Order: sequence, then structure tokens, then C-alpha cells
Amino acid sequence: MQRLFPDPGPTTVEAQLGAYRPWLEPRPERPFVAANFAATLDGRAAIGGVSGPIGSETDTAMLAGLRTRFDAVMIGAGTMRAERYGRLVPSQEKRERRERAGLPHDPLMVIVSGGLDLPWEAPLFTAGRGRVLIFTASEQEPPETATTLRVVRHPGRVDLAAALRHLREERGIRALLCEGGPRLHAQLQAAGFVDDLFLTVAPKLAGGLAPHILEGELPGRIELAPAWLLEEDGELFGRYRRPPPGPDR
Ligand SMILES: NC(=O)c1ccc[n+]([C@@H]2O[C@H](COP(=O)([O-])OP(=O)(O)OC[C@H]3O[C@@H](n4cnc5c(N)ncnc54)[C@H](OP(=O)(O)O)[C@@H]3O)[C@@H](O)[C@H]2O)c1
Repeated sequence: MQRLFPDPGPTTVEAQLGAYRPWLEPRPERPFVAANFAATLDGRAAIGGVSGPIGSETDTAMLAGLRTRFDAVMIGAGTMRAERYGRLVPSQEKRERRERAGLPHDPLMVIVSGGLDLPWEAPLFTAGRGRVLIFTASEQEPPETATTLRVVRHPGRVDLAAALRHLREERGIRALLCEGGPRLHAQLQAAGFVDDLFLTVAPKLAGGLAPHILEGELPGRIELAPAWLLEEDGELFGRYRRPPPGPDR
């Protein structure tokens, strides 16, 4: 893998993430938030309805590396239905590395859902490992799950600002990794909550009507500053920072 920016030269996923400590940067009323996506050259965030076929093994290594560096991972219900998550950090060695860094053994899995229509047979719920917190607008009760599950209800629609405040103040979450999907991502970006965007661009074309990495309105153009750009076999791995608001913004 090559680092194209800054300071061009050889690098690795481990070397790039080694000094990345988002848990040291919580914001006053919310966790530090990073979003992670993979896209095709035509800007699509899914092939055949899922994201797996987009990125390479190196992209998977980047995602696995990121998961060792956040207190919690957030996804929308659409992503849970499509991707049917299991335990976030399956490697014992990586969980121990998290603990050595002062992070909880398993990241808290956070799901945002309007109707609580979730794939309850997915290993995330049946394996009995880790912890899950669901923010929902539904009054329904979830079924019994082997994995510890908590539900926080918001009337009408999940208020993401309140959800992030709850994660910070009630659950002690300092750093949150949002793994999508596109509709949840749009709301977080529109509200100015995404501090870092990790974006893999794979040298593939998807065509069709798959969603883009961001599906929803923004209040205006968002300018991001590149923190790094890496390349391997034609695949690009970017990290883009949202500059903190200045006094005149
Ligand atoms: N390439 C990538 O990196 C990547 C990453 C993630 C996902 N994806 C792909 O994206 C597709 C899914 O897209 P998506 O936009 O449907 O995913 P999504 O953003 O994960 O899910 C949207 C759903 O989340 C819930 N939701 C979001 N905001 C809410 C709010 N404020 N209040 C209440 N509920 C809220 C709603 O759930 P309910 O339906 O329960 O009301 C909504 O239908 C899949 O094909 C997946 O593979 C790709």
C-alpha cells in the first residue's frame, strides 16, 4: 500500500491507524463521530444489495482496524436488514487490544430504526456476544434475544442529536463509528455530526439503481479536508476531516 498524501511513501493499514485515537476527541455534547463507506467508481454503495462485493480484503482490514478504535458502532435499520451483522470484533486478539487501549471489550452496537423491523435471526442478536442498543420510534417490544439488548424510544422519529447526547452522557461513548447506511449518513452529515469520513473507492462499476453513500438533502455544500489518501491495486482509501466550525461560521 502506498500513501499518496501527505508524505508519499509505503505504508500499511496498521501503520495508518496506529496513531488514530478518536476516543481522545469527544465533543462537548456528543461522541467524536467517524463514518466509513466503500463506493464504486460510479459512486454506488452496494452491488447486488450489499456492500461486501465493493471493497477488497484491504478495505475489510481497514474496517476491522477501525472497529478496534471506537467505543461504539452505529448503523441504520436498512443496513442491518441488508448486511445481517454478527459480532463486531470477532477476533479475541483484537478485543484484547481494545482493552489495552482503554476501550470496552466489545464495541456497543447501536441501531437506528423507525419500525423495529429488524432481522432478529441475525447472529448479532442470537450469538449472545456483545451489547446492542436500539434507538427507535416504535412502541413495539423486541423479541427475546440472546445478546443483551436495550431499547431507547423517541416519539415519531429518532432524534439523532438527542441519541448522540444519550450515547455520550448516559453510556459514556467517546467515539462512534457510523457504518451507514446512506440515509442515516445523510442525516448525520446534514446536522454537522460527522468529524471524519473514511471512504474507499474501488476500481469497479456497479450501474443500476443502488444508493450512493449519502441519500438525503444537505443544507449546502460541505467542504472536507483530506487527512490522508492511500492506494493499493488501484483502490483508493481516503480519510477526510470536517474542519471544526470557526468563530465566524
Ligand atoms: N458501501 C457501504 O459502505 C455501505 C454501508 C452501509 C450500507 N450500505 C448499503 O446501503 C443499503 C441500505 O441503505 P439505507 O439507506 O436503507 O440504510 P440505512 O441508512 O442504514 O437505513 C435506513 C433506515 O434506518 C432507519 N432510520 C434512519 N434514520 C432514522 C431516524 N432518524 N429515525 C428513525 N429511523 C431512522 C429507518 O429504519 P426503518 O426502516 O426501521 O424505519 C430507515 O429506513 C444496503 O444496500 C447496504 O448494503 C452500503
